[in-house]
Amino acid sequence: TLTAVLAVLISYALGSLPAAAWLARARGIDIRKVGSGNSGATNMMRAAGKGPAVAVATFDVLKGVLVIWLARWLGLGENVAALCGLAAVIGHNFSPFLAFRGGKGAATTFGVMVSLVPVVGIGTAVIFLTTVWLTRLVSAGSILGVIAGTLVAVVTGQSVWLCLAIAALSALLIYQHRDNIGRLTGGNERRLGEK
Ligand code: G3P
Repeated sequence: TLTAVLAVLISYALGSLPAAAWLARARGIDIRKVGSGNSGATNMMRAAGKGPAVAVATFDVLKGVLVIWLARWLGLGENVAALCGLAAVIGHNFSPFLAFRGGKGAATTFGVMVSLVPVVGIGTAVIFLTTVWLTRLVSAGSILGVIAGTLVAVVTGQSVWLCLAIAALSALLIYQHRDNIGRLTGGNERRLGEK
C-alpha cells in the first residue's frame, strides 16, 4: 500500500504540470487573460493557435496515459490505477503551480479513460469529435463525451469500481465546466475559431 500511496502522489504531481499556462507564459502570454481564462488546449488555441494547442492537448492526454501505465507497471491493479487517474486529473484541475486552480481536465480525463478501458475512451472520443465537428463547441463535446464514456462503461459490464471511477471523472469534468454550461444554455459559448 505504500507503493500505492506513492503512485497516487506521483500521479497528482504529474497531473499538476500546467502545460498550457507554462507554454503560454514562455510566449509572453497570460492564459488566464485570454478567452475562457482556462489552462487547457482549447484556450491555448485562442491564445496561440493550432500548433501550441495540439502540443498542450498531447501533453495533457499523455499525463493521463502515463499514470495508468505507471500503476500497472508497479503491479498495483486496476482499482489503484483508476485512483491514480483520478489523482492526475485532480492535479491538473487544482494545481499547486497555479495557486490550486487549473484546467478542466478534458484531455487528461480522456488519456485516463482510453488507457484504463479502451472502449470507454473510444466511445468518449467518437461523441466528442462528432459534437465538435457538428457544433464547434469544445465544452459541449467534452461534457457529452464523458457522459457517453460512462454509459459505455456500464453497458459493456466493467467492474463496479471502474464504473464508479469513470463516473467520478465525468462528474468532476462536468463540475469544472459549470461556467461553460452557463454560456451554453445562455447561447453565448465561444465556438472553435472564435476568441
Ligand atoms: O478543454 C476544456 C474544454 O472542454 C473547454 O475549454 O477554454 O472553452 O472553457 P474552454
